[in-house]
Amino acid sequence: MRIVADGLTFTYNRKTKFAKKALDDVTLTIREGSFFGIIGHTGSGKSTFIQHLNGLIPVESGTLTVGDLDLSKGKKTDKKGLRALRAKIGMVFQYPEYQLFATTVYEDVAFGYHNFFPEKSKEEERAAVFAALRTVGLDDSVADKSPFDLSGGQKRRVAIAGVLVSDPEVLVLDEPVAGLDPAGKNELMALLHRIHDGGKKTVVVVSHDMDDVAENCDALAVFSEGRVVMTGTPEEVFSRRKELEELRLDVPVTRKIADALAEKGLGNAFPLRSDDFVRKVAQLYRGKRV
Ligand SMILES: Nc1ncnc2c1ncn2[C@@H]1O[C@H](COP(=O)(O)OP(=O)(O)O)[C@@H](O)[C@H]1O
Ligand SMILES: [Mg+2]
Repeated sequence: MRIVADGLTFTYNRKTKFAKKALDDVTLTIREGSFFGIIGHTGSGKSTFIQHLNGLIPVESGTLTVGDLDLSKGKKTDKKGLRALRAKIGMVFQYPEYQLFATTVYEDVAFGYHNFFPEKSKEEERAAVFAALRTVGLDDSVADKSPFDLSGGQKRRVAIAGVLVSDPEVLVLDEPVAGLDPAGKNELMALLHRIHDGGKKTVVVVSHDMDDVAENCDALAVFSEGRVVMTGTPEEVFSRRKELEELRLDVPVTRKIADALAEKGLGNAFPLRSDDFVRKVAQLYRGKRV
């Protein structure tokens, strides 16, 4: 599903003295099948933007379309339409494991399914729950356990399974690897790539880790003070290092090494993804017969 925002503007506590403009004229297209990264400082509007995508925050000003659904203000989306939208746009909040509540993993994941598809049979529910658990790399035997007996990384995967159970076309995740150890982080990123499956699903991740987005995303948007200040491929965005630094944002470590090498006259056409970067360095190294 393609996502198109045009002039999206949103103010919290509008018409009160606590009014806070969180989105200011956001115009942005997320192509279908993209692995899209949203970066920017704390408070730049990232979470506010993604909560618009499944109708959690209603459009106040500007337009927003998700696939063929028009979420713009004044376009009536009834309860059924909103439920269908939320089944198609899976939303994984920050620290989703805090929202686990049921006595077993099965019940927790099934709750989401039942919410979206109350008319479906128990058999269909079972099939969907186990399929979602397997997708996130959890064994069937985990289903009867209490979610609270699992490790942090496993809990987070159960929470993601609870979103995947409706088989969404778009998966939106707010800081999906925050707080995980390096192994848990790698496993989760690998999981997101399995779900993305070369573009069969659209994945949108909010992150403040520039290395992560350079490594994983095919397109980025940079938010600052509620505005989108840059969009493009990671190569395009991170080639604007000065501007990013003026926004007090970092660049990936591969960009920094490439810049340092360029300063020494050692070429500057380095890719950002670390394995491509190493391959390029190895080529140069061999070519120079050092
Ligand atoms: N529920 C809320 N009520 C009032 N202000 C909010 C609320 N949520 C976020 N904000 C404010 O809106 C701005 C954007 O916040 P947010 O979208 O959470 O940014 P980010 O996800 O990039 O950290 C910030 O100034 C934040 O303080
Ligand atoms: Mg946020």
